[in-house]
Amino acid sequence: AQFSRRNLLKASALVAGAYGLGIGAAARFGPAFAQPKPVLLEARSTDAALAETAATRGVMTYGNDGMPPTLRIAKGKPFAARLENRLDEPTTIHWHGLRIDNRMDGVPFLTQPYVYTGDGFDYLFTPPDAGTFWYHPHCNTLTQMGRGMTGMLIVEDPDDPVFDAEIALNLRDWRLGGNGQFIEQFKARDAAKAGTYGTLRTANWQREPQYDAPAGGLLRLRLVISDVTRIYSLKLNGAEAHVIAIDGNPVPNRFALDFLMIGPGQRLDLAVRMPDTEGTIVELEDIRGSKPKILARLRATGPSLKRDLRDIGPLGRNPVPEPDLGTAQDIPLVLSATAENAAVDSICGTLGYSFWAINKRPWPGDTADPTAPLAEMKLGRSYVLDVANPTPHIHPIHMHGMSFKVVSSSARPVQQFVSDTYLILPDEKVQLAVVADNPGDWVFHCHIIEHQKTGMTGYLRVA
Ligand code: C2O
Ligand code: CU
Repeated sequence: AQFSRRNLLKASALVAGAYGLGIGAAARFGPAFAQPKPVLLEARSTDAALAETAATRGVMTYGNDGMPPTLRIAKGKPFAARLENRLDEPTTIHWHGLRIDNRMDGVPFLTQPYVYTGDGFDYLFTPPDAGTFWYHPHCNTLTQMGRGMTGMLIVEDPDDPVFDAEIALNLRDWRLGGNGQFIEQFKARDAAKAGTYGTLRTANWQREPQYDAPAGGLLRLRLVISDVTRIYSLKLNGAEAHVIAIDGNPVPNRFALDFLMIGPGQRLDLAVRMPDTEGTIVELEDIRGSKPKILARLRATGPSLKRDLRDIGPLGRNPVPEPDLGTAQDIPLVLSATAENAAVDSICGTLGYSFWAINKRPWPGDTADPTAPLAEMKLGRSYVLDVANPTPHIHPIHMHGMSFKVVSSSARPVQQFVSDTYLILPDEKVQLAVVADNPGDWVFHCHIIEHQKTGMTGYLRVA
């Protein structure tokens, strides 16, 4: 490959210290916040019981044999994770939705060097926001995420209301053949359309798992769509539920869940009122597409707690700065298809095609010379990203490092919620307002990984 370690020295110069964590970062926390004991996340390959037919070989994970650990960390408290790479290819970790230091963002070339086989990297950051987030690699992502490296990250807030129970579900598919083994992760003709779908659907790496929750109780259900392709329309059968947070951030006005469309990278927090009668089953269902699919079941247990959804107080607030719409500058961003053939070789897994582009420029996101940023933003200023989707496909468009406020859409009435991933419909134009308060180069890409890797990627520079 064209990327030798020598080339990477340039990239690693961006990052101080032997393991990427500079003295600067450590000093910022001061002696009162000595570095916390790191969680070890060992990137490795294993066998896992996913299919009915046989154990699936070559499932990728972080430490655990099955699903990567669901990390629970505290808002405002330093967190450390040590990545050790036992895969036979490079990797990194990106902390999806967390507004943290650019050096911890996990994007090869833009923010850190690749972590080669046998090497490690120390991530250290303090999450400013509470909510439901997740973590995944940003290198050879179609394979690494497709094969299992998608873990949940829950940031807890002591100010959050207390529920009677909490269940976290990591929703995704697998592309397996009839023998239970991985088949090719994508087909080029599908990558140029909605993406290549998985064949086996799971919640927490299981087919239709069932969980217990107290009858008549209030359950906090945290959901992440960690699939590389699929967009879901989620519905809960047999219980009343309110949407309390989207993409980690509390919604300004809670609303009853009828069904909600959410895409790759997105999260949903529901307050569910379990049925009163012991043994009653509540189903989580995806009603998108021609074949509705039950993803998981919740079973009411014990005598009814007789709780009321209105008993649940508001979630703690996240300190996301409020954009100033009066002075905000517009940044037009057009998502489009492209015919340009700009296949680039890269050890982080360029797929060899370019089907998509942002502002007419296809970029797979993993080349050593990322050319120019989509826009340069001045530190501290407000901007409105004017994103247009003239394509016939839906794109979950994701921004690293900062959260935006959804201001308006040409396609639907929107609640002005705060998010990091917006599911933009065909022919929709959406205005996403953001304060450029986090310095660095931040990728902006579609979270349908085939779209990302075949060109629908760019980056925004904040300085
Ligand atoms: Cu989950 Cu670049 O993102
Ligand atoms: Cu897309």
